[in-house]
Amino acid sequence: MTAPAHDDKHVSWRGRSEQADAERTSAELDDAEAIKELRSRSRRLLGSMMRPHKRSIAALVLILLGQNVATMTAPILVMYGIDHGIPAITDRDDYSVMIAVAVAFAAAAALEYVCMRLYIVQSAKVGNAMLYALRNRVFWKFQRLSVAFHERFTSGRVTARQSSDMESIRELTENGVDDLVLAAMNVVTIAVVMLVIEPLLAVVSLLTFPLMLLLGKWFSRVSAIAYRKARETVALLIVYFVESMGGVRAVQAYRREDRDREIFGRLNYDNRFAQAKGHQQNAIMAGGMRGIGHLATVVVLLFGGWQIMLGNTEIGVLAAFLLYMKRFFDPLNELVQFYNVLQSATAALEKLSGVMDEKIEVAEPENPKRIESPRGELRFENVRFHYREDQVVLPGLDLHVPGGQTVALVGATGAGKTTIAKLVSRFYDPRGGTVRLDGVDLRDLSESDLREGVVMITQENFLFNGTIAENIELGRPGATRDQIVEAARVVGADEFIEELPDGYDTHVRKRGGRLSAGQRQLVVFARAFLADPRVLILDEATSSLDIPSERLVQRALRTILADRTAIIIAHRLSTVEIADRVLVLESGRIIEDGPPESLIDSGGQYAELHRQWEDSLV
Ligand SMILES: Nc1ncnc2c1ncn2[C@@H]1O[C@H](COP(=O)(O)OP(=O)(O)OP(=O)(O)O)[C@@H](O)[C@H]1O
Ligand SMILES: [Mg+2]
Repeated sequence: MTAPAHDDKHVSWRGRSEQADAERTSAELDDAEAIKELRSRSRRLLGSMMRPHKRSIAALVLILLGQNVATMTAPILVMYGIDHGIPAITDRDDYSVMIAVAVAFAAAAALEYVCMRLYIVQSAKVGNAMLYALRNRVFWKFQRLSVAFHERFTSGRVTARQSSDMESIRELTENGVDDLVLAAMNVVTIAVVMLVIEPLLAVVSLLTFPLMLLLGKWFSRVSAIAYRKARETVALLIVYFVESMGGVRAVQAYRREDRDREIFGRLNYDNRFAQAKGHQQNAIMAGGMRGIGHLATVVVLLFGGWQIMLGNTEIGVLAAFLLYMKRFFDPLNELVQFYNVLQSATAALEKLSGVMDEKIEVAEPENPKRIESPRGELRFENVRFHYREDQVVLPGLDLHVPGGQTVALVGATGAGKTTIAKLVSRFYDPRGGTVRLDGVDLRDLSESDLREGVVMITQENFLFNGTIAENIELGRPGATRDQIVEAARVVGADEFIEELPDGYDTHVRKRGGRLSAGQRQLVVFARAFLADPRVLILDEATSSLDIPSERLVQRALRTILADRTAIIIAHRLSTVEIADRVLVLESGRIIEDGPPESLIDSGGQYAELHRQWEDSLV
């Protein structure tokens, strides 16, 4: 088998080098200290998952203990039956011993049945409850993590946390934990019982145990590597798939299909190869364990037979030991099958604990401050900001926007306009300095006060799955139909909405895919108007509208912005005209500031922009 032809220089993909820290698992680390930290982190998560179910888990352990007792007694009963029951019948015609043994055996079997049944039902209940809570917690956490986090952590990874990781943990709770606990209980109790019954034979029987440990050690080492590779490759595969399909329009527009297919083919091949390697190791391990089990049986049979010939022990003891050997090795064999499940669940837990431990950068204040007199006044005090250390976006911004003012932000691409908008919306916190709304530091405002006070509309008009009316209502949950229609009317959206098949009750489908970009824009405007925030930010919000629609919105904007503070970011100067004040931004610094007319007169950058714009209109 050879890899499909490829050229790494051309077919490289950033997913390889861009693994988020929160995603590392102990199998991928070499540093002992870091591994310890990671293990304790995932133990904490596991502990927090189990704590609400302490009692049920204790009950489960008791049930397993019952099952273990039942398993242990059967061979003893066989031994008793052979060594005492049969002689009693043949010597004295006394059936009572054999009947007692049979009754006890039936009781043990019944106990085993009851325990197994109880365990399966109970463990499924606990497992389900734990998973239910974990899913919710992970979802809430992802929601609360800042925009900055989500810009780092791709949607493919978010999907993996909520899908394949949850699946691994579910698999573990469903059909692995009992094998693990039972195997551990069996190993200990069988060794003890055998030592009590016949120490010498017990020692000989357990001689193969170190051999098994050696094999187990080898397996856990090599399979950890193979398993890591398999997980890595499948993760890359899924992330690539999700991202490629998410951008399927761009893929087709730029004829990237062949290239994408080649990259995907290669990732897919890597995964297939890694999986095959894991299966080979499994085969060696499973075969090896079975072989050792048989070897142990042969040893017990030979040594036990010899001891019987010497008159040191009874046939019943040998029978019991042979049965114990089977009970000793069977769960261990199961464990091999289950080892992969355990590994994936461990890795999943480690990754999820990474997400759960992720610091909430833009955290809600513990003691939020109230705004005394809401007027929509914004103040930037020496605000410094960068996304990456090596690239300062705002070197120190001072800005005062009195309540009710409409400010237009203009400047070249990359000047920092959107960044300012994001800081006002508190998608990020400044690295230095303070942003205040009505005198209160945004970091001291409660989430609900902030969202009520500031609304930002961008070019990516996000509509949720639902009807038009529901999407507008999001602005003010609980608004009446009249208020919704009124909001649509004010922004000029009512006309197209009424022409839709179901009017306001038309479903917008996936992300508003049923509406044109401009129509989505108008719906979002209506939503913002209904929300009635004190501060409204429009970031390139009208750029997807055609000229007549933009005119329409322009008129609506005057109404919408009438008695609130507004920051308008636009490359089209027609939108800027309605502003009271224009700020020209260059590399994060304000270089011009004043009413549009006076800036035009002063002959600076804005005047130049304005002249070019007027020329383009002719
Ligand atoms: N999430 C991000 N991570 C890293 N750098 C970023 C991020 N967002 C923006 N930047 C950088 O910050 C700088 C300012 O970006 P910003 O989006 O504020 O520009 P802008 O003025 O809105 O530009 P445009 O007119 O093109 O929208 C740019 O150099 C950009 O590359
Ligand atoms: Mg921008």
